[in-house]
Amino acid sequence: MQYELTPTQRALQAKARELARGRIAERAAEIDRTEEYPWDNIAILKEAGFFGMTIPVAYGGHGASYLDAVLVIEEMAKCCGITGRIVVEANMGAIGAIMKYGSETQKRRAAGLVLSGDKPAICITEPGAGSAASEMTTRADRRGNGFVVNGRKHWITGGGVSRLHLIFARVFDERGDEEGIGGFIAIRDETKGLKIGKREPAMGLRGIPEAEILFEDMEVTADALVLPPRGLRKGFADLMNAYNGQRVGAGTVALGLAAGAYELGLVYSKERKQFGRPICEFQGVQWMLADMATQIAAARLMIYKAAAVEPGTFPDPTEAAQAKIFTSEMAIKVTNDALQLFGAAGYSRNRPLERMVRDARMFTIGGGTAQILRTVVASRLLGRHLPQTRDGYLTASSEEA
Ligand code: FAD
Ligand code: COA
Repeated sequence: MQYELTPTQRALQAKARELARGRIAERAAEIDRTEEYPWDNIAILKEAGFFGMTIPVAYGGHGASYLDAVLVIEEMAKCCGITGRIVVEANMGAIGAIMKYGSETQKRRAAGLVLSGDKPAICITEPGAGSAASEMTTRADRRGNGFVVNGRKHWITGGGVSRLHLIFARVFDERGDEEGIGGFIAIRDETKGLKIGKREPAMGLRGIPEAEILFEDMEVTADALVLPPRGLRKGFADLMNAYNGQRVGAGTVALGLAAGAYELGLVYSKERKQFGRPICEFQGVQWMLADMATQIAAARLMIYKAAAVEPGTFPDPTEAAQAKIFTSEMAIKVTNDALQLFGAAGYSRNRPLERMVRDARMFTIGGGTAQILRTVVASRLLGRHLPQTRDGYLTASSEEA
């Protein structure tokens, strides 16, 4: 068992840290205030090679591992949650699934977009199907040599700025019988019928739009379907397997936010004097700092372990779920404690703590709630699936087919 980063990984981490503490940190407050997508940061990330770093070399990427990406995400998120989040989606999620399951043409197209600075969007959640993602109603009907897609997704990160979309939809054959769930590639401004709906006024992570995406008789050719390896009947399971990478990435943003807030709190506790002494001299504060550092250290081990998989494979579902549960809950507590160390100064919008608290709040929700992920873990503990839907995710008619 290896616990040390390699010299190459340490160099990557140092490069990311330097960039994050310089140009990325400078803009973080403004991005939060204006709620505008940080195109300038995209240019910086692209130039540094942090967009599409997990894409194999044969497709123009760096063939980096998820652990490499995690090191970069953590450093970015310490200074700017939004930028950390962008690095997640530029390396995991939709692009991870397409590079693993896509056809040659799909991989080349998707890699080209991401490497040119497009953060893809992954479209799973619907108004009536959040945790119960398998109950999605967006449908793709086979028509001739292609599909017609209809439905509505919401809370899609990057809606309106992303071009590449991976859309989860139920597939129906020409007779109207269900075949299972597949992933469809659509490209904003190219695919007719893909429409961007209203933007959600989100609590935190405000620099990326969270938006509705509508598919109104969206016509795609047969080659838009990313056919999962075990076919459509196991399509949902395989797509969710790819999604484990994104869960680890999301947990890493939470880790970075916690570590960044803790570092600020530690420095402040040495500077701020009350009762004639720096507040770090009080045992009550020391124990807060010790607890924060301990929880961050534990979370980091879980994240790194879950991310330490061979390039081209995905993190284990249970490890990904455990890492995200622990890290997301830890980040809520640690960012809050860091704010507390600043007293009223932490409550001011002139400092980053209140932003970090708001940003950290999302990770027990997005990407699978902390409750749902506990169900994923429990199913491993009990050695059986614990489907939450009444009938399982395939309808009775398709089971019989
Ligand atoms: P619900 O499913 O309605 O859950 C409500 C509450 O009930 C939660 O506390 C939940 O844990 C609990 N609950 C539900 N079912 C169970 C159960 N079986 N057992 C125990 N508790 C249960 N989706 C995308 O597809 N793409 C994105 O890019 C994306 N980005 C997001 C970004 C942000 C900032 C946020 C907040 C969400 C994003 N989502 C995205 C959506 C996200 O994945 C869903 O919000 C999440 O899956 C939960 O669904 P829901 O909000 O409908 O909550
Ligand atoms: N990794 C690998 N496989 C997974 C998986 C994961 N994270 N989650 C589910 N699966 C597989 C199951 O093993 C099962 O496979 P099987 O058909 O071979 O038995 C299949 O997918 C269906 O899972 P099941 O738990 O039976 O489905 P369900 O209908 O009860 O749905 C989920 C539950 C999967 C939707 C729920 O656990 C979940 O993850 N909800 C959150 C959705 C989410 O993360 N959205 C984020 C959008 S950004």
